[in-house]
Amino acid sequence: MEPKMIQKLIETAIGQLQYAYVPYSGFRVGAALLAQNGTVYTGCNIENAAYTPSNCAERTAFFKAVSEGVTEFSAICIVGGKDGILTEYTPPCGVCRQVMMEFCDPEQFQIILATDVQNYHIFTLKELLPMGFGPGNLE
Ligand code: THU
Repeated sequence: MEPKMIQKLIETAIGQLQYAYVPYSGFRVGAALLAQNGTVYTGCNIENAAYTPSNCAERTAFFKAVSEGVTEFSAICIVGGKDGILTEYTPPCGVCRQVMMEFCDPEQFQIILATDVQNYHIFTLKELLPMGFGPGNLE
């Protein structure tokens, strides 16, 4: 991926931290999901007083895109930290990895974990979810 696009995704994900609805954990997460058509879908985590209905930033971004008819993706950037302070990478939870598996080619889809525009690491979905179960298994 071009460095300019990586920077754009990191900046967009960081820009989402302000919208995280996190009255229970205080842990803010932002995501920027790049569709193959070039559109970037944003997401933040959204918590709930009943806890289990909470939604991760990554799934917010995926579901926004899919709800608008977009189902093909190239990359996602994820940032997160307590009170929105980015000191370590925030890897996607298992449920979000599984949602990625539904829509993305595990060998192609790039997951960018970042703490700022200069400090990031790119993984493929396959690296974070080896031998994942996906739509192909039901064929
Ligand atoms: N969270 C995300 O939004 N994405 C992740 O990848 C990890 C966890 C959220 C869920 C919850 O609102 C908070 O972070 C603490 O777990």
